[in-house]
Amino acid sequence: MNNELTKQIFGLIKLNNKLIAVESPLQERVRLLINLASECQRLDINCYLWTLEDDALQQLSTNEEGLSLKTVNQYQASAKSRREHYFEILRFWKTTDLEGILILEGIFPWLGSATTDPDFFLTAEWIKSALINLKLYNCNANKTAILLGSNASLSSDIAPEVPTVIQQLPATLEINSYLSQVLPDYSHSDIHATANASIGMYLADIGYGIRQAIANHEITPDELVSQLSAYKIELFKRIYSIQFLQPPATPIGGLELMQSAFKTYKRLLTTLAKAYNLRLPKGILLIGPPGTGKSYSAKASSAQLGLPLIILEWGSFRSYGNLAEYKLKSLLALVDRINRVILYLDDFDKGFAGDDDLSKRLAGMLLTWMQERTSEVLIIASANNIQWLPPELTRSGRFDEIFKVDLPNYGERHEIFKIHLARFDPRFRDRGDGYSEEEWKRLLKATQRCVGAEIQAIVERAAVSSFCQMFGDDVSPLQELPPLGITLSALLAARQSMNPLAIREADRVESMRNIAALHGLPSSPIDSSIYSLGNVDIFGET
Ligand SMILES: Nc1ncnc2c1ncn2[C@@H]1O[C@H](COP(=O)(O)OP(=O)(O)OP(=O)(O)O)[C@@H](O)[C@H]1O
Ligand SMILES: [Mg+2]
Repeated sequence: MNNELTKQIFGLIKLNNKLIAVESPLQERVRLLINLASECQRLDINCYLWTLEDDALQQLSTNEEGLSLKTVNQYQASAKSRREHYFEILRFWKTTDLEGILILEGIFPWLGSATTDPDFFLTAEWIKSALINLKLYNCNANKTAILLGSNASLSSDIAPEVPTVIQQLPATLEINSYLSQVLPDYSHSDIHATANASIGMYLADIGYGIRQAIANHEITPDELVSQLSAYKIELFKRIYSIQFLQPPATPIGGLELMQSAFKTYKRLLTTLAKAYNLRLPKGILLIGPPGTGKSYSAKASSAQLGLPLIILEWGSFRSYGNLAEYKLKSLLALVDRINRVILYLDDFDKGFAGDDDLSKRLAGMLLTWMQERTSEVLIIASANNIQWLPPELTRSGRFDEIFKVDLPNYGERHEIFKIHLARFDPRFRDRGDGYSEEEWKRLLKATQRCVGAEIQAIVERAAVSSFCQMFGDDVSPLQELPPLGITLSALLAARQSMNPLAIREADRVESMRNIAALHGLPSSPIDSSIYSLGNVDIFGET
């Protein structure tokens, strides 16, 4: 048997289970059917397939070309005047003399959580009782019914009756042996690199990605690795609605206490730390007003720790409705399989705004996973309003580090300005500076209560106006680019043209800051820069 899933299924059959649920993604279907059919052949058992779509019984076998199907005439579909007639196969299998395994596709949707539609309810009850009867009638026969589908969520009344096997994402070893078959010319180290790029995908997807990459021309192993990685990023976006990134190193202005915590986490990832039984924190929560650099810091931490980043918009999960739990379950399985990765739950509070049952169930699932997981995943979540989060999430021991990300102080604004000015004006690169201390003091005073996002916007606006001032309407291409000089007056004018959120909605932002201060540790040390002199606390400014 060449596949973990097939092994588990036949293990359950051996234990005399007459009804088994199997969850396997659609793209793996052919491979799974081939594996089941060939194992049946080896054990001299019949293997049948029924699907809701064509309501016929097919006998499965394998040959050199793959799968072969032969219609079994003993089963005749009945005319369909009632909904139950679509599932006559269950009654047939209860009493037929045929033996072996019967794979049933298309039944799971009726076995999920209850709905209020009475029609649906009756059909679902009919199917459930037919399944229970299958078990009772066949307890001494060599018959097993396998319910197969890509989402095997069972309602609580039927779940205890049906052992469920879930096809996990393949482990590195399985990927390695698959790749050695499909890429026989690759060296050991090329296979290893390709397997690393393939982690998180099912074998069928890996195969498809490889075929697509080498469809028209020869490519080197390095090219294959980068094309497979790009394919995987696309796939993750489609399947799990996440962004999977390896962001480049980005400088963060200020937030030094948070940054030094990230440096500690990097050390906790080493084998030495593991030898001392030290582990990463379960979760890190960043709380504070909008635009203060929470998402930006999470992205920067990815480069700092050398781990890829998965960004998940937590708030969007609820829009999956009934599928939300299934989606979260598969996503967490993916994260576990990728292992050393940062899972960033963006706008974590937005997912709880409705305070409904679904968001509580999702939070419960996440909590259980956070408690039980053994993978080395760093979870970072960010929120504006910590009071929206269910208290069990913020209780200590859950997110065991909570950082308050506040409005930047004078010294931090200076650093953030320099980071963004350096993107346009070469004077600010390589620790350079374009302004005098007096000029900085003016600018930093004028930008009190501006957050990082607003400083970025001020610099970008000033860069545009400086560009327009430097060049007229019809600029012809230049041989050599004169440096763009952003003047203090351009920055001050850009500042005047906007109204920072912390001034516009002072009450709301103040309340966020106060609540964040109650729960979290500061991300920034006390301002010890030369500019902090102007930071006199007469307006409640920190
Ligand atoms: N400390 C900082 N250093 C450099 N740039 C920063 C910093 N803080 C914010 N920025 C700039 O502001 C932009 C927006 O910040 P970010 O998206 O991280 O805010 P946020 O705290 O996640 O806001 P929200 O609560 O609305 O999600 C960043 O892309 C970055 O360019
Ligand atoms: Mg954000």
